[in-house]
Amino acid sequence: MTLTQQEKQALIDLANTARQRAYVPYSKYPVGAVLRTKTGRLYTGVNVENAAYPQTMCAERVAIFKAVSEGEKEFEVITVVTDNGGSPCGGCRQVMAEFGLDTIVILADGTGKLIKETTVKELLPDAFTPDHLSTQGNE
Ligand code: THU
Repeated sequence: MTLTQQEKQALIDLANTARQRAYVPYSKYPVGAVLRTKTGRLYTGVNVENAAYPQTMCAERVAIFKAVSEGEKEFEVITVVTDNGGSPCGGCRQVMAEFGLDTIVILADGTGKLIKETTVKELLPDAFTPDHLSTQGNE
């Protein structure tokens, strides 16, 4: 699947707009994400922090969990916007890997500039996936 420049910019702009809704009183590091499913639906996410710091949830996982909770599990592309084009944390990479290693990942900075286009497979080589469990007769 190839995305046009316009599609990429539209996804970046949407994630960046969502980013304004990040709840980040502690880190002051707002993150916005938008996930596009194979059915063409869009799910945004923002990081939501908590006074009990470990209860914070990342923007990527909010978007993915929103999609899965609406019955969507096949993803085409996830776009993540941060102030400085930061890369998804390890936990979010693992959650992305659960739903497919070929999902495209677009990273952009707060000015809306595309910093990197990659895939889940590239971000998490040798990922532990559901396949590893099904070969053990656990399914
Ligand atoms: N954060 C995300 O939302 N996604 C990531 O992949 C990296 C980190 C959030 C968590 C926390 O609210 C803030 O960024 C600083 O770590």
